[in-house]
Amino acid sequence: MPAHPAYPVGLRLTGRRVVVLGGGQVAQRRLPALIAAGADIVLVSPSATPSVEAMADGGEITWHRRAYESGDLAEAWYALIATSDHAANEAASAEAEAHRVWCVRSDDATAATAWTPATGHSDGVTVAILGDAPDPRRTAAIRDSVVEGLRDGTLVAPHQRTRTPGVALVGGGPGDPDLITVRGRRLLAEADVVIADRLGPRDLLAELPPHVEVIDAAKIPYGRFMAQEAINNALIEHAKAGKSVVRLKGGDPFVFGRGMEEAQALAEAGIACTVVPGISSSISVPGAAGIPVTHRGVAHEFTVVSGHVAPDDERSLVDWAALARLRGTLVILMGVDKIGRIAETLVAGGRAPETPVALVQEGTTAAQRRVDATLATVAETVTAQDVRPPAVIVVGEVAAVGGPLTPVE
Ligand SMILES: C[S@@+](CC[C@H](N)C(=O)[O-])C[C@H]1O[C@@H](n2cnc3c(N)ncnc32)[C@H](O)[C@@H]1O
Repeated sequence: MPAHPAYPVGLRLTGRRVVVLGGGQVAQRRLPALIAAGADIVLVSPSATPSVEAMADGGEITWHRRAYESGDLAEAWYALIATSDHAANEAASAEAEAHRVWCVRSDDATAATAWTPATGHSDGVTVAILGDAPDPRRTAAIRDSVVEGLRDGTLVAPHQRTRTPGVALVGGGPGDPDLITVRGRRLLAEADVVIADRLGPRDLLAELPPHVEVIDAAKIPYGRFMAQEAINNALIEHAKAGKSVVRLKGGDPFVFGRGMEEAQALAEAGIACTVVPGISSSISVPGAAGIPVTHRGVAHEFTVVSGHVAPDDERSLVDWAALARLRGTLVILMGVDKIGRIAETLVAGGRAPETPVALVQEGTTAAQRRVDATLATVAETVTAQDVRPPAVIVVGEVAAVGGPLTPVE
């Protein structure tokens, strides 16, 4: 172990020259953070990985296609020495020392004048972990724990919570609690009030501390529901009381989620609102059941429609005749009850009766199940197999591609 630990510091590199020697994997890993820091990056290397080359092509770095030469570090504030030539690294290191340029080395950390900490970023904070001696595995593991804790809110003690007044419309994903975004999870952990739908990651509500008020906005199909206006009023009322409010929605807030209606109501009431996109069930539920919504050579398009009103219903805004002429994938949400009429309309409009159809009920949850049929058989299959909402219905050849995935244990 070195006699003294490294002294941690944050370099402000905006517009300052950073020289990177070597265009291999080390440069590829380190360059994004240097670019993000706004450094004026000069890469010296005869070759580069395709990703590094793309950074040069995109103008993010300046690339000199040659080997290191004495004098390359003269104007640098900071250097990353990572060539595959040990002698060149030694020479560059000596030049850095002579010019008092802090440098990191990929081949010999102990010979370097600086070490790269294991870094991570979460919500305006950079976490950087340095060992007293170079120990990348350990520092990366500690970094991961800290960043994960910050992201899911477990590392923030309640009295330190950074409460954000206003409303966050959070897309919770299709149901599996692991499928919410990192930002959504953090905002949930910081909330005073959560107004949640029936669909989405309900399990996460159980993790909320007891002081958090959870309001059930369940819109159970054909059952109890909380009128949209009542939801809007609840959002406004709690935000006006200075609470940090999360409106937790299934999937993505703007995919048949009435998210914009809520955002508009909040804007009219002068309440700050942030939207956190979510993983929509329209893609993720088929995916979880082993159905790709596109597949090379099979489908070059997918269309997502609501089936909550039948094709012959005058309230329908869907052009079913046009959909019947499409060859690609049709993803139908809220369509279980009307699938018989929908299938008839698609066949009448030209889609083959033997077109595969898959229904995925309660996707990504422990209760997930997949039922397969064709356009000709789907109506009777739904009845015979008692398929119930929520389900995503996939119409098209992709439903016959692959099959159920083997989960990793
Ligand atoms: C009101 S829409 C909301 C869609 C949501 N905003 C999204 O992006 O996934 C509700 C419909 O989404 C589908 N859905 C949502 N979650 C589902 C799940 N876990 N499994 C199957 N279908 C689901 C069903 O078709 C359900 O009737």
